[in-house]
Amino acid sequence: MQITDFYNYKKPGKKISMITAYDYTLARLAGESAVDCVLVGDSLAMVMHGRPSTLRASVDVMSLHTAAVARAVRNKLVIADMPFLSFRKGKDRAMEAVEKLVKAGAQAVKLEGLDGHKDAIEHIIKSDIPVMGHIGLTPQSIHKFGGYKAQGKDPKSAARLLKQAKGLERLGCFAIVLECVPPDLAGKITKSVKVPTIGIGAGPCTDGQVLVMHDMLGLYGGAPSFVKRYLDGRGLVVKALNSFNREVKSAKFPA
Ligand code: KIV
Repeated sequence: MQITDFYNYKKPGKKISMITAYDYTLARLAGESAVDCVLVGDSLAMVMHGRPSTLRASVDVMSLHTAAVARAVRNKLVIADMPFLSFRKGKDRAMEAVEKLVKAGAQAVKLEGLDGHKDAIEHIIKSDIPVMGHIGLTPQSIHKFGGYKAQGKDPKSAARLLKQAKGLERLGCFAIVLECVPPDLAGKITKSVKVPTIGIGAGPCTDGQVLVMHDMLGLYGGAPSFVKRYLDGRGLVVKALNSFNREVKSAKFPA
């Protein structure tokens, strides 16, 4: 799937699948799979670096992981997250961050929110770098939200999210991630914009779904409750490590 294919997915019966990847090995598996596109999410601060939130991701760290993923994924769109505040310090600083991510191999960038950085989004898009929007429970705003809480539950906040989605569409974003918003609101936003929406914890009525790979493979403990676990990754890995340990201790390995 290429960037130009996104609009074709805004049709009944068509769905976009997006998965996060942060390192060469798992990104290669994502590349071999049928998933449509790969996101180098700033969730890597938590999943790869054990940080308590995404706020600790930096442009340099995002670029390092983007380069590893881009080396592994040759046949799919690679999107990199713009980390905390990297698009809030003026257009020039935002473009420096975009330049590093694109030179590392990203074909598009994703950034959270809209209010207060419309000019940065517009400038990135006018510089021919595709932008994916991200609204709802935007993890870079957890201190404002007072934790990881679903957004858009009351009419005022629902109206604000709808307005933001339309604003992102107007600026020229090629897709919008809707994170942890009520399913009926996600459906309403999806119907109200011409660009595809990609949901996470937002129910079935979006044009696609995204999951953190380490969550859906059961590798990262403490995944949110909406995540479907497709594999008991932790169980399988710990079992394999214990088998190795047992065989070393009993001199069964090497034979
Ligand atoms: O950082 C990330 O992994 C994300 C997805 C959860 C959408 O932004």
